[in-house]
This record gives sequence, structure tokens and C-alpha cells, in this order.
Amino acid sequence: MKRALKLLSSGNPSAFRRVLLSWYDKHQRALPWRGESDGYRIWVSEIMLQQTRVAVVQQRYGNFLRRFPDLRSLARAPLPRVLAEWSGLGYYRRARNLHAAARILARRGGPIPRTAVALAELPGIGRYTAAAISSIAFGEPQAAVDGNVERVVERLLGGAADPWQAAARLLDAERPGDFNQAMMELGATTCLPAKPRCQACPVAKFCGQCGQRLKRMPTRRRKQAKQAYLLLRRGSKILLQQRPASARLMPGMWELPSAHRTGGTVKMRLRHSITDTDYHVSVFASEGSIRAPLNGIWLALPTLQRLPLTGLTRKILQRLASETNL
Ligand code: ADE
Repeated sequence: MKRALKLLSSGNPSAFRRVLLSWYDKHQRALPWRGESDGYRIWVSEIMLQQTRVAVVQQRYGNFLRRFPDLRSLARAPLPRVLAEWSGLGYYRRARNLHAAARILARRGGPIPRTAVALAELPGIGRYTAAAISSIAFGEPQAAVDGNVERVVERLLGGAADPWQAAARLLDAERPGDFNQAMMELGATTCLPAKPRCQACPVAKFCGQCGQRLKRMPTRRRKQAKQAYLLLRRGSKILLQQRPASARLMPGMWELPSAHRTGGTVKMRLRHSITDTDYHVSVFASEGSIRAPLNGIWLALPTLQRLPLTGLTRKILQRLASETNL
């Protein structure tokens, strides 16, 4: 605790910055948005990273940018194409906001704002994301505090300070984007929630908690739920239904029809996790003369994979495609 207070009260924690940044320079993970300085590309990465794990974003980021390489192409695209490209990342409101913000900027004919204050006026950009984009893409000296950084700061300073204020005082104003990402990196790889790796921590000597017994961070129990879907086939075509425009979750997206009565052949079982719930999913197969409901269509696999599908339906269809030669 004393060491930690010294870290802040010295007013210029330059040793901390130096050590953290040189660790980051050597040990940072090679992620596809690292080394980017284009505002649009950083913006896309930060929106994806808001609620999706790095490992998933890593797989999807390149495809999204190939499809929408700049602000103009994103603004021009119809929303369903953007949602289709977002499939698998979850929290589709982010894609809607990203698209809406691109259109606002395109209408203004203006570039992406360079300050956190101006960025935060756009849909989908809150305090954290605004600071992350402005510091990483434009070098604005703004501290960005996400969940990882909040934990790092709390441990460093013994929970004594407001994490945003503390992070702002620690920030390296010469390299704010790298500093913010170094703090995130430390939280993601070393200063872990349940079992921090203090022996591997580059800034352990500055830390108020290092070597002390940590209060266990409570782990929330995940909910378990069952779900059943129907895989209805007519030749090579599969029946898909569109969720109502008024649905709270994933409005207007396409999915397999739900099975209300379970019975028949189970074609596939899988697990799917969304926020705090693990879904145990069964897919029942059926072939024959079923009429499509009003909100349904029969489509062949290559065509329907271009629709904005829910993440779970995409997962089921991908597995189906890899198991059969559809
Ligand atoms: N989480 C949010 N932004 C990130 C970034 N730029 N690098 C790694 N993890 C992140």
C-alpha cells in the first residue's frame, strides 16, 4: 500500500511508465489491430472488443475490414450486409450503431473525430471506447479504463482511488495508446482476476497488493437452459425463419425454427454461451412436406450463409456443412 501511494504521490510515475511500456514492447501479443493507426480500423476493433473475446475478434476482424475497408464502404452498405458480417460476434446493437455512426459521418462528409469528447457523441461510443480510439489512433492523452484496467489500477493502488483518475495520473502522455493497451495487456495476461501471476508481473515492485492474499473476486454462477431447433430439409434446401422486427434480442435476424415439442431424431447437440447463460442445444432433423410459415424461406446452404443469421444458427449450419456435402 505504501509503495502504491508513493507511485501516485510522486506526481510523476515515470519509472512505472518506463517499465510497463518496455514490457509491452517486448511481450505484447501480436493482434491484428496492433500497429494500426487508421482511425476507422481502430474504431472497428474497439467496438468488436467491447463485448467479444480477443480470440473471437481476431478471427473476424480481417474479414469485416475486407468487406468494409473504410468509412465510406460501411456507410454505403445496407444494414443486413453489415449484420451478416457481424454474425458470430454477438450483441448486434453494436453493428447497428457502428453502421448508424458511419452514416452520420458520411453525411457530414467529415473524417472520424480525433478527440474523445467528439467521438463520444457518436452512437455506440461510450467513455471507454472514445478514450481508447482517440489515444490509440490519434495519440490523445486520454486514459481508457475497461474491466481489466480497473482491476490492475485497484490492485496497484489498493483500491484507494477512483480508477479513472488514477489511470489518468499514471498515463504516459507521450505514448497514451500504447500505455492504455499495455495496461489492458497486463490485465488480460498477467494481473488475472482469480489467479494473478505476480511472479511474472513487470510492475510488481510498484504494486500495493503484490504478495498479499487477494480477496477472491466473486465468480457469478452461469445459468443453464435448454433449447431445441428444427432442421427441416427439402432436397438441398433448409427452412429458415426471420425473428420479428419487434424482438428484444436480435430483431430481424434469421434462424432455424424452434422445436416446441422435442422428439424425433436428434441430428446434433451443442453448447452455446451468451452473456451469463449456457444453452444446451438440440437440433431435431425432419424431412418432408412442411409448408414454410409466412416469415420463413427455403434456401440452399451457400445462399443462406449470406443472410444475417444469429450466431447459434450460423454455428449449427457451419457444423452441418462440415459434416455433410451440402
Ligand atoms: N480490449 C479492448 N481494446 C483492446 C485492445 N486494443 N487490445 C487488447 N484488448 C483490448
